[in-house]
Amino acid sequence: GKVAVMMGGLSAEREVSLNSGKAVLQGLLDMGVNAHSFDPADQPLTELLVNNFDRVVIALHGRGGEDGTLQGALQLLGLPYTGTGVLGSALCMDKIRSKQIWQSLGLPTANYKIADKRSFDAGSCKAIMASLGEEVMVKPAQEGSSIGMARVNNAQQLDTAVQNAFKYDNKVLIEQFVHGSEYTVSILNGKALPSISMSTPRDFYDYAAKYQSDNTVYVCPSDLSAIEETQLAELALEAFDAVAGCGWGRIDFMRDKVGRFYLLEANTAPGMTEKSLVPMAAKQAGLSFAELSLAILRTSDQ
Ligand code: DAL
Ligand code: MG
Repeated sequence: GKVAVMMGGLSAEREVSLNSGKAVLQGLLDMGVNAHSFDPADQPLTELLVNNFDRVVIALHGRGGEDGTLQGALQLLGLPYTGTGVLGSALCMDKIRSKQIWQSLGLPTANYKIADKRSFDAGSCKAIMASLGEEVMVKPAQEGSSIGMARVNNAQQLDTAVQNAFKYDNKVLIEQFVHGSEYTVSILNGKALPSISMSTPRDFYDYAAKYQSDNTVYVCPSDLSAIEETQLAELALEAFDAVAGCGWGRIDFMRDKVGRFYLLEANTAPGMTEKSLVPMAAKQAGLSFAELSLAILRTSDQ
């Protein structure tokens, strides 16, 4: 069959997606797949039918690619696609909704408040800081690659950060900052790949630390004991299932100084660039980038 690798798009993560998509396209070509690039920013989706594509690999990140809208459109066009369906994509795109579901199931996630653009009052910043502790992360509810995020430690900074985050979304998550280190677990076909820990001299693992900096340190396999690794893998699988994740994805965590894990978010179309985490974990598990790309393509059968 003929495979479209969808990349680019119009989200704030367009550049990241082009890098993910090009790498996956090459991986599929290396495996002998009849794959072609398709950028929905340049072509209407109906071109998929006009050009006789049989299935779609989604290498788009963020809105219009990872949030369920594309998944719904492809479903209506009758085209199988990789990864998570409509419901899970929409849930995972929204960090607030994901946390609410995990919380309701008793899964660990840091305390938080929600700022709504229609009702946000700068006067509430002091009380928010007081209730969440000395330091918080500010995140647009529906973004990726740390775009629009900030780490702040006083009411004035919080107001500025929330106003900035409102440029990206009408809902903003204000989350207690977990001091410790960041971990991630990649998921492929119902199994967890080896965890990775990330550390950066920057304020947090932001866009520059993710894609531009040479100072980000990745440890894979991570420093966890075998028992902790198994527990984290189980937590990741449970969390992914809770938000209707399917096929492949990546769950991000913070680990505090005494070793407790907190769920940050689920990614249903995680990065596949040279510096990305899922390919790093797959490699550790013995899967080359090309083999991983083929395994992701096969998730479209489900
Ligand atoms: N949102 C980016 C692409 C990631 O999760 O890897
Ligand atoms: Mg994300």
